[in-house]
Amino acid sequence: MSGTQKKLRYALVGTGNRGTTMWGRELLAGWGDYVELVAICDLNLMRAERARQMMGSGAPLYRDFAQLLVEQKPELVIVCTRDSNHDEIIVAAMEAGADVISEKPLTTTTDKIARIREAERRTGRRVDVSFNYRFAPTAAKMKELIDAGTIGDVTSVDFHWYLDNRHGADYFRRWHGFTAESGSLFVHKATHHFDLLNWYLDSDPVEVKAFGDLVHYGKNGPFRGERCRTCPHAGECPYFFDLAADPFLDALYEEPSAVDGYVRDACVFREEIDIPDTMVAAIKYKSGVKVSYSLNTYMPMEGHHIAFNGHKGRIEMRQYEKQTWTTPPADEIVVMRSFDEHEPERIWMPHQPGGHFGGDNRMRDMIFKPGSNDPLRQRAGSRAGAMSVLTGLAALKSSRSGGSVRLQELMDIKAL
Ligand SMILES: NC(=O)c1ccc[n+]([C@@H]2O[C@H](COP(=O)([O-])OP(=O)(O)OC[C@H]3O[C@@H](n4cnc5c(N)ncnc54)[C@H](O)[C@@H]3O)[C@@H](O)[C@H]2O)c1
Repeated sequence: MSGTQKKLRYALVGTGNRGTTMWGRELLAGWGDYVELVAICDLNLMRAERARQMMGSGAPLYRDFAQLLVEQKPELVIVCTRDSNHDEIIVAAMEAGADVISEKPLTTTTDKIARIREAERRTGRRVDVSFNYRFAPTAAKMKELIDAGTIGDVTSVDFHWYLDNRHGADYFRRWHGFTAESGSLFVHKATHHFDLLNWYLDSDPVEVKAFGDLVHYGKNGPFRGERCRTCPHAGECPYFFDLAADPFLDALYEEPSAVDGYVRDACVFREEIDIPDTMVAAIKYKSGVKVSYSLNTYMPMEGHHIAFNGHKGRIEMRQYEKQTWTTPPADEIVVMRSFDEHEPERIWMPHQPGGHFGGDNRMRDMIFKPGSNDPLRQRAGSRAGAMSVLTGLAALKSSRSGGSVRLQELMDIKAL
């Protein structure tokens, strides 16, 4: 960037872990030539103050987002609040003339999708959605192989995602365990996965049949407490989480919990948890492609397996988070061509530094570095955010009603 180019003035809303790291400390450290943090907003001012210190920022703190908009007039607002209130911040930001980057999922209901899309059209502002998995080099390589016709037209996909008993359990310690806050993991987590499918296949999903049950966490636990820090079962519970052992999370969440009651280590066996922990779905696409999907949340490993089946072959990929069986850690892509006597082609994709296998850094480059090209159409907007949320809402509805659900029943997709 030339020394004369103006920095983009942005406000950060929501100073939990994601806001403070990805869109605060890391963004300022790596992309500080392009952006300037002009305001920080959180309903919990103690957490916001801690976050500000961690970010090394002098930006003013706000509890009232409307006041922030009037006083600071940011050009960009980055939304890192709970999923269920992203829409309020997104719409107010655009109405005040700012562009928006929303953390995923874009939102949690069809009414909120409609509100965001209407406000975007009306104001002419832009909403980006942080689908960082699209930017992982392995995902980009898969997309290139599919688009190049390596296996002919894709006819079906096998897609299975595994969350381990630390990361998976973490969703059940917090607000994510309630459908009203997260839309369930069919929305909160699977929004990434459904977006990957929509992007890989370059088509819209039309119909979903799903099953989902809560069989491990919540009411299924053999005992329960309020939270790990005070739990009488701490010594025997495999899910005991020692927040105090993580100085960063402890500083951001423990004392600030006195302000708003948001404890970071609530019991994974709380009776009130109302989301499924074991989910499967069959999805049919406009293009005719059929997908078999699953999400499990208490596994001894974390990662995903995906395979694209086509008229001329099959591409498989395996990616593991922590339990890597290769040194250095790498993802394996296997390309099998039909009626080919040769060994399948094996492509090893080394993991890249930064979050989400290098996806977080590449996404920030794409958004903030001037002149970035986007040949794989990785940069995602609100329509992509909406389509993946709708797929999750259809899956949730199907899992509860027993029938299959067409996305068009939920809202008018043609008008999206
Ligand atoms: N892209 C990814 O891979 C990725 C990874 C992690 C989290 N996320 C997303 O980031 C978001 C934040 O996640 P987190 O774990 O930091 O959540 P968190 O609940 O720990 O933090 C959210 C913060 O927002 C604040 N807040 C809530 N409502 C607010 C409002 N109306 N105005 C101002 N502040 C408000 C809360 O007080 C809290 O400090 C979620 O939407 C989550 O899905 C995305």
